[in-house]
Amino acid sequence: MNKTPITILGLESSCDETSAAVVVDGREILSCVIASQIDRHAKFKGVVPEIASRAHLEVINSVVDDAMSQAGIKFHQLDAISAVNMPGLVGSLLIGLTTGKTFAWALGKKFIAVNHVHAHAYGAVMEYSSDAFPAIAILVSGGHTSIFLCNSPIEMKLLGATQDDAAGEAFDKVASILGLSYPGGPEIDKIAKKGNPQAIKFKRTWLAKDSLDFSFSGIKTAVLYYVRGKDLSLPDSSHLTERQRADIAASFQAAVVEVLVEKAILACKQQNLRRLIVGGGVAANSYLRKQLAERSEQEGIELIIAPLKLCTDNAAMVAGLAYHKYCKGQFDGLDCPVKSTGL
Ligand code: KG4
Ligand code: ZN
Repeated sequence: MNKTPITILGLESSCDETSAAVVVDGREILSCVIASQIDRHAKFKGVVPEIASRAHLEVINSVVDDAMSQAGIKFHQLDAISAVNMPGLVGSLLIGLTTGKTFAWALGKKFIAVNHVHAHAYGAVMEYSSDAFPAIAILVSGGHTSIFLCNSPIEMKLLGATQDDAAGEAFDKVASILGLSYPGGPEIDKIAKKGNPQAIKFKRTWLAKDSLDFSFSGIKTAVLYYVRGKDLSLPDSSHLTERQRADIAASFQAAVVEVLVEKAILACKQQNLRRLIVGGGVAANSYLRKQLAERSEQEGIELIIAPLKLCTDNAAMVAGLAYHKYCKGQFDGLDCPVKSTGL
């Protein structure tokens, strides 16, 4: 007997993308609309929380309308509404969460709160053909760098996380030091292709032996001193040639990627698992994707990496993960709070 399909509206507003998506049975993406705020934050070289929450408020209703009309369904046909409630910028989270709760209340539908970082892991597996679990997941974004043991999409145990900056944050800051535009990750990825990853040996931070934690603040500072001199006597990066800029980008990227890849492989070995899930905005990085593919093949590990469209923030991964909570009856009340942190 065919079971009735479950259709869920998902909302994402944890940082600087307002997104709404309609997903059936956690897999079939009927629509995914993303309104980016990059233009508003670019001149500040980073996300300004106040600007972000106001921008979410301005567009969220039309983003939801677009997602519903692109999906070709009516509100009463939805089975549940889901929204991210943590971790992220509190003002931004509040807009998506309150919108989601309001729709759920007005329509008399179930409400499901979703953890943004867990949703990134799900984004990596949602178009994967067979069951991806159990697996190790490494999630690398602008706000987080974490390794999880995942027994199912909704059973995630944290094994390690960054102690300071996230990898994406380091990409964005180094791009800014090099005079590149925001967000810097894709810019570094692009110019690094013309550089030599071995040109400068930036120190890799491994922390304690066998640790699955990360630290990326040191390399960011190392690049700053490399570019502007030990006493910061140079005002900016304008003295660099294109070749030098490319070499710095490639060498920085190689250092960050080596640590990410080796810790992900180490986690697989420690947990005796042969499957690795990779998601988050930095998972779009072409060098990281190449190195992961090479190393996981050498180690006999199956690599499940998010398709490019599901790497950066989107609501399809939210509605997708919510389906698995729906199936387990994990619903949330309208008193469910936002939280800035929480893995
Ligand atoms: O997952 P995401 O969209 O938002 C957060 O949850 O933080 O990730 C955004 C981050 C930014 O730091 C951006 O620079 C980085 O992902 N990013 C990349 C690339 N594309 C996006 N970093 C390196 N290489 C890329 N190709
Ligand atoms: Zn994200």
